[in-house]
Amino acid sequence: MIKVGFDYVNKDQMVNFDEYEAKVREINDVIHNKTGAGSDFLGWLDYPVNYDKEEIERIIKKADEFKKNYDILVVCGIGGSYLGARAAIEALNGGYKKEGAMEVLYLGNSLDPNYIHETLNYIKDKKFAVCCISKSGTTTETSVSFRILKEMLEEKLGKEGAKDAIVCVTDKEKGALKKLATIEGYETYILPDDIGGRYSVMTPVGLFPIACAGIDIKELLSGLAKAREDFANPDIHTNPCYQYALERNHLYNLGYKVEMLASYEMRLRSLNEWWKQLFDESEGKDGKAVLTASVTFTTDLHSLGQFIQEGSKILYETVIYIEEPDNDVVVPSDKDDLDGLNYLAGKKLSYINHKAYEGTLKAHSESGNVPNITITLDKMSTFNLGYLFFFFMKACAMSAYLLGVNPFNQPGVEIYKKNMFHLLGKKGY
Ligand code: PA5
Repeated sequence: MIKVGFDYVNKDQMVNFDEYEAKVREINDVIHNKTGAGSDFLGWLDYPVNYDKEEIERIIKKADEFKKNYDILVVCGIGGSYLGARAAIEALNGGYKKEGAMEVLYLGNSLDPNYIHETLNYIKDKKFAVCCISKSGTTTETSVSFRILKEMLEEKLGKEGAKDAIVCVTDKEKGALKKLATIEGYETYILPDDIGGRYSVMTPVGLFPIACAGIDIKELLSGLAKAREDFANPDIHTNPCYQYALERNHLYNLGYKVEMLASYEMRLRSLNEWWKQLFDESEGKDGKAVLTASVTFTTDLHSLGQFIQEGSKILYETVIYIEEPDNDVVVPSDKDDLDGLNYLAGKKLSYINHKAYEGTLKAHSESGNVPNITITLDKMSTFNLGYLFFFFMKACAMSAYLLGVNPFNQPGVEIYKKNMFHLLGKKGY
C-alpha cells in the first residue's frame, strides 16, 4: 500500500526513533483519548467506520440521479470544503471527464470576476447541477457564487427544477446555508460538528462530488478505514505515519523550514493543494511551522529544479511515487532517428519516468544535500487514495502536537475577513 522511505535522508539529518519512543506514545494517547488542544475536532478519527450508512446510500442514489440528468456538477465551496474532492477526482480520473461520469467544475473558491464569468458562461447553456458546500454557511466566496448559481438554475428550470438540481452539504442545524436549504427543500448532507474542513474529504463534503465523478466512495472509505486501523499503532519503529511526522519535525528543528511535496504525476497537482492546506492551516500558528510548497516532476525540474539542487538549503522534499500508472505510452522507433531518440524506442514512459525519479533523488539528496523522504504507492487506486488521505491527516495531527500547536483551529484566517467586511460595509464590522 504505502511505503515511507528515508534512504535519501543523510544520517546527520535523520531523527533517532529511540529517543522519541515515549513522546510519540504520549501524543498517540493524547490523540486517541482526545485530551489535547482542539480535541473537539477529532471526529475524523473514527468517521471511516462510524459514518452514517443511510446517508452514504442517499449520496450514492442522488449522485446516480445527477449523472443521469445533468452533464456538469458545479462544486461551490472553498478551502476544506472543496480541496479534498478536487484532489480525489483528479488523482483518480485525471484531468478530463471520465466516461459515464459528470464533468466537475469549481466555483465559490474565489472572488475573481474573470474566472467566475468564464465558468458561468461555459455552463449557462449546458445541463448542470450544483453542490454547495459550506459548514458555516457564511463564507463570502461560496455564498456569492451560490446565490448566482441558484438564480441561474431557477431562471432556467423554474423553482421546482432548481430544487432537484441543487444539493447542500452543511452543518447539522446551525448556519445560514442549513436554514436556506431547509426553506428551499434542497437535499442536504451533514458535515459533523467535530470535523473541520481540512479533515472532511471522508464526509459528504468530499464524498458527494467524488460519487458524481463516478468514483466508488465505499472503496475510498475502506482505504481510510484500513489506514485508521494501521496507524493507530503507537510504536514509532513500526508506524510509518508517525515516522514521517517525526522526521518532518526533526528537519524543521534542524532549520529546514520548507517541505516540498513532489510527485511525478500531473494527476496529483490538486492533491498537493489539499496537502498544503492540511499542514499549513493545522501548523502555521504561534510563529512556528514548516511552510509547504509543491512541485510536479519532471515538469518543474526545468524551473524550480535549479533552486532545489543549488539554492539556499531551506527545504527538504517529500516525494510521492506511484509504481504502476493506470495507463502507459511507448516511445515509437523512427527509421531516420533525426532526433536521436531511438535509444528509447520501445521503452515505456513509466520506465523513463522512473529513471528520472531515481536520478533526481540521487541528484537532490547526494549532490544537493537536500533530504528526500519517499512515499511509494503501488497504484493510485481508490482504496490507496483513501489510505493516503488518512496517512497525511493522522501524520498532521502527530506533527502539530510535536510542534506544540493546536492542529484543529485556524484563528489566523479570520483577520482578513474582518478587514474585508469592514471595507465592504457589512453590519457589525
Ligand atoms: O479548513 C477550513 O476550516 C477552511 O478551509 C474552511 O473549510 C473554509 O474556510 C470554508 O469554510 P465553510 O465550509 O464554513 O464555508
